[in-house]
Amino acid sequence: MELIDGKKISAEVKQEIAAEVEEIIKNGGKKPHLAAIIVGHDGASETYVAAKVKACHQVGFDSSEFRFEDTITEAELLAEIEKVNQDDSIDGLIVQLPLPKHISESKVIETIRPEKDVDGFHPMNVGKMVATLPTYLPATPAGIVELLKRYKIETSGKNCVVLGRSNIVGTPMSVLMSRKASHGDCTVTLCHSRTKNIPEITREADIIIVALGMPEFLTGDMVKTGAVVIDVGIHRIKSDKTKSGWKLIGDVNFDEVAPKCSFITPVPGGVGPMTIVSLLQNTLIASKKEIYS
Ligand code: GUN
Repeated sequence: MELIDGKKISAEVKQEIAAEVEEIIKNGGKKPHLAAIIVGHDGASETYVAAKVKACHQVGFDSSEFRFEDTITEAELLAEIEKVNQDDSIDGLIVQLPLPKHISESKVIETIRPEKDVDGFHPMNVGKMVATLPTYLPATPAGIVELLKRYKIETSGKNCVVLGRSNIVGTPMSVLMSRKASHGDCTVTLCHSRTKNIPEITREADIIIVALGMPEFLTGDMVKTGAVVIDVGIHRIKSDKTKSGWKLIGDVNFDEVAPKCSFITPVPGGVGPMTIVSLLQNTLIASKKEIYS
């Protein structure tokens, strides 16, 4: 069993991005600039946005944060997005999800100009992804593909099972793995809450990508020997074995599953760091106007 080290790979990719930014600046260009909008005070969202801002600075990007109380109306938020759309100094914009219930996520996503949608959530960019056209790929699925590539894990012709059909991870992941492209070409099965006999399906899988948001859902008996397992879940649970009294676990029961795998991502230090790196890659692409000129 080999651990897939997302921390190490993300550090490598960040170095590559930082070198490219240096080159751009040496040639008289401007720093890529990512803006993040955060609404309310959700603890996980605060942590994710802080990590994204920190990563921007590590690679030499500019970043801006726009914070609003969760009493902001939908119309006010859409107007704030429009301001960023019009600001030529900003290359990429993300609106951290989830949003308060009175705000429509799809309206928010559709208000972001596709050329600034570095999360790759706008229907225009989702459509381009499905059509195998150049676009901003959603960060977590793109980060997983990057891990598979850098670990030279063969995907062509393999059975890939994706657990979870969210717009952010499961659905785009199933598209990327089945596309006719390098590190796609899998036969993909997408399982969700209505799927019957999930263990029977996962036992046939060469690659299992778990993005259900259910702690330790995937157990040892659900995995065949030699499988590649990618864990997208992250949950904080109480523990009397750590100093802090908390520990992070994923959607995979690591102790049971890891001994059966050829490759597996740990939690933390697997997929998480790669999500941020993909966002940086998309922001760099946006600043170079590679997709929308
Ligand atoms: N919430 C959880 N994941 C994400 C993400 O990738 N982008 C945004 N904007 N919000 C999220």
